[in-house]
Amino acid sequence: MQLAEVGIRIGYFHEASDDYLRGMGVDRALLPSREAWRASYEADYARPVHERESYLLAWEMDDEIVGFSSADQITFGEEAFMHLHILHPDHRRSGMGTAFVRQSAAAYFRELELQHLYSQPNAFNVAPNRTLRRAGFRYVFTRPDMVASTINYPQPMTRWVLQAPPT
Ligand SMILES: CC(C)(COP(=O)(O)OP(=O)(O)OC[C@H]1O[C@@H](n2cnc3c(N)ncnc32)[C@H](O)[C@@H]1OP(=O)(O)O)[C@@H](O)C(=O)NCCC(=O)NCCS
Repeated sequence: MQLAEVGIRIGYFHEASDDYLRGMGVDRALLPSREAWRASYEADYARPVHERESYLLAWEMDDEIVGFSSADQITFGEEAFMHLHILHPDHRRSGMGTAFVRQSAAAYFRELELQHLYSQPNAFNVAPNRTLRRAGFRYVFTRPDMVASTINYPQPMTRWVLQAPPT
């Protein structure tokens, strides 16, 4: 995702309903302001890749951005945690998420030189849990009271993992 496109991710969260955010375990009160969020991306995009705090990918179909993924909690050369979102409900549940998660994982392994890639959805959010399994991730555990990232509150979460492909 280009820096000029990060507004898509920021707007996705800021413009979502409370119900939609809750389904993903996100607390509106924890969202940075749009301005602060953009400024933090400007700083992060200026860093060399091995020092990045996050890494964003746009999911494109027919030259249109239909979704995005981000990786955070990055330990370059070791591990990171990925997130997955398709923007419009009409585009969900047709196999796109699985295809994009596979492509995103390949990009994270390559660009961040990872050994492991994790993803931790809300345990009751069926779509990402099924999608991660379908994309080849292995189930690790469910914990009742975890915080996945800075915009999440403590909640039941699952952990999924994908190992780096053999070189
Ligand atoms: C999560 C998401 C990216 C998955 O993409 P998608 O294109 O809908 O997924 P796919 O069509 O590739 O489906 C993959 C699997 O998930 C299942 N699935 C997808 N949406 C589902 C839903 N709402 N309810 C139940 N199962 C669902 C599919 O049936 C399929 O399961 P299978 O492998 O058992 O057949 C997308 O649904 C989304 O953006 N959801 C809203 C945002 C969100 O919750 N993100 C996760 C935050 S952690």
